[in-house]
Amino acid sequence: MHTISQYQDFFITYLKNQSINKEPKNLYEPIDYILHLGGKRMRPVLTLMASEVFDTDYQVALPAAMAVEVFHNFSLVHDDIMDDAPLRRGKETVHEKWNINTGILSGDAMLILAYQYFEQYEPIIFRDLAKLFSKTALEVCEGQQLDVDFEERNDVTVADYLKMIEYKTAVLVAAAMKMGAIVAKTSEKEANLIYDFGLNLGLAFQLQDDFLDAFGNPETFGKQVGGDIIENKKTYLYIKALEFSSPDKASELQQLFSVTLEDNKAKIITAKAIFNESGASNATQEAIEMYTYKAFQTLDKMDLNTDKKNILRAFGENLMGRKV
Ligand code: IPE
Ligand code: IPE
Ligand code: MG
Ligand code: MG
Ligand code: MG
Repeated sequence: MHTISQYQDFFITYLKNQSINKEPKNLYEPIDYILHLGGKRMRPVLTLMASEVFDTDYQVALPAAMAVEVFHNFSLVHDDIMDDAPLRRGKETVHEKWNINTGILSGDAMLILAYQYFEQYEPIIFRDLAKLFSKTALEVCEGQQLDVDFEERNDVTVADYLKMIEYKTAVLVAAAMKMGAIVAKTSEKEANLIYDFGLNLGLAFQLQDDFLDAFGNPETFGKQVGGDIIENKKTYLYIKALEFSSPDKASELQQLFSVTLEDNKAKIITAKAIFNESGASNATQEAIEMYTYKAFQTLDKMDLNTDKKNILRAFGENLMGRKV
C-alpha cells in the first residue's frame, strides 16, 4: 500500500500523460481545462487504494481511476450549468469561460471518454466495470434531477434528502471503490463491502459539501460560498433548521427559500444565522460523523489486515477535517 498523497501523485502523472487536447479545439480545450484544474482527486485515489487493498498493483487500476475522474468532472461541468455556478476550484466554470453550449457538448464528450477507458480491460472485467458504471451514471442523473426538483418544493424530508445525496454523490464514491475491487478480481462479498464503505463515506462527504457551501472560507473554498442558499437547495442544514426552529423562524426561512433574488447578501446572512442558532449546523456535523463511523463499521466486517483497515480509516478521518 501507499500513502494518499502518493496515490494522488500516481494518478496526476497518469493524467498528464493522456493526450486530451485535440481538434476541434472548442470541444477538447474545455475538457483539458477542467481535468487539469486540480481538485482533490478523491475518487481516483479510492479506486487505486481499493485495488491495493485487494492485493493488486495500483497500475492495473489506473484506467478505471481515470474513467471515474473523467465522469466526475463531466458531472461537475453539467452541474455548474444547472446550479448557475460561477466558480469551480477557484477558477471560472466551463460555461462561464466559454458558454452553455460548450459546457453541454464538452460534457457529453467526457462521458463517452470515460467509458472508453474501460476498453483497456479484458472482456470479463470490461463487462463488470461497464455494468457498474452504467448503473451508477444513471443513478447520478436521478439524484441530480431530485436535487433540482427539490429547489421548487417546500416539503422535502430528511429521508428525501438522503436518497437524493445517495444518488447524486455517494454511489459514485462507492463505485469508485468497487471498481478497484473489480480490477483486483476480488470476491463479490468483499467488493460489495467496499461499496458499502464508500457509500457511507459518500453520504458523509456530501453532508460536508453542503456544510462548507454555507460555512466554507471564501478565500480558499474554490466555489461560490452561499451558492446553495442562492439556489434554494434543500440541504440537511435547511431541513434541520426548519425542524428545530420556532414556527415564526421556520416560516421566515421557508419564505427566504421560495424566492430568487438579484442581490443575495442579506439572504445568505439570514439563512446562515438561522442554521447556526437553530442547531442545524451542529446536527449536520453530527450526521457527518455518524456516516463516517457507519463506514468504519463496514470495515470491521471485512477480511483485511489491520494496516489496510487503518489506511482506509485514516482516509475517512481526513475527509472529516477537510476545508475544500
Ligand atoms: C464536488 O466534488 C461535487 C460533489 C459531489 C460534492 P469534489 O469535492 O470531490 O470536487 P473536486 O474534484 O475535489 O474539485
Ligand atoms: C454535485 O452536488 C453532485 C454532482 C456533481 C453529481 P453539488 O452541486 O453540491 O456539487 P458542488 O457543490 O457544485 O461541487
Ligand atoms: Mg453544484
Ligand atoms: Mg448541484
Ligand atoms: Mg455542493
